Amino acid sequence: GAPVEVDISDIKPGEKKVVEWRGKPVWILRRTPEMIASLKATDPLLADPESKRSEQPAYIKGEARSIKPEFLVCIGVCTHLGCSPSDKLVAGADSGMGPEWHGGFLCPCHGSQFDLSARVLKSMPAPDNLPVPPHRYLSDTRILIG
Ligand code: FES
Repeated sequence: GAPVEVDISDIKPGEKKVVEWRGKPVWILRRTPEMIASLKATDPLLADPESKRSEQPAYIKGEARSIKPEFLVCIGVCTHLGCSPSDKLVAGADSGMGPEWHGGFLCPCHGSQFDLSARVLKSMPAPDNLPVPPHRYLSDTRILIG
């Protein structure tokens, strides 16, 4: 499949854009400073916090799993049986998950939950974090996926 160019200038903080690449939905989540700051606190909840076994390019490192911490780019397909997780951006005590939870994504099929870096929580049906596709910045407002 051909690479897909995406304008990211119109994504509001805290929101995500979905584009299609190779027949799959790719999410671009624009994280707020609070969301970025929360990622490390979420580590103890996660199955693979450093993404050691999860699919992502070698240049993607750390909790943010991104080139620029503000923008997470990932494939929105559950690593269990391939459903598409939905937003579950409720943070903190209101989420029923405890103070370490700062929101993320919930797979409707069998309940796997993912944090704001698309990292899967422990003991979920999904074994791995959502994949990060190859991508790069063409400018501050445009990325190329693929
Ligand atoms: Fe997502 Fe099963 S397909 S939890």
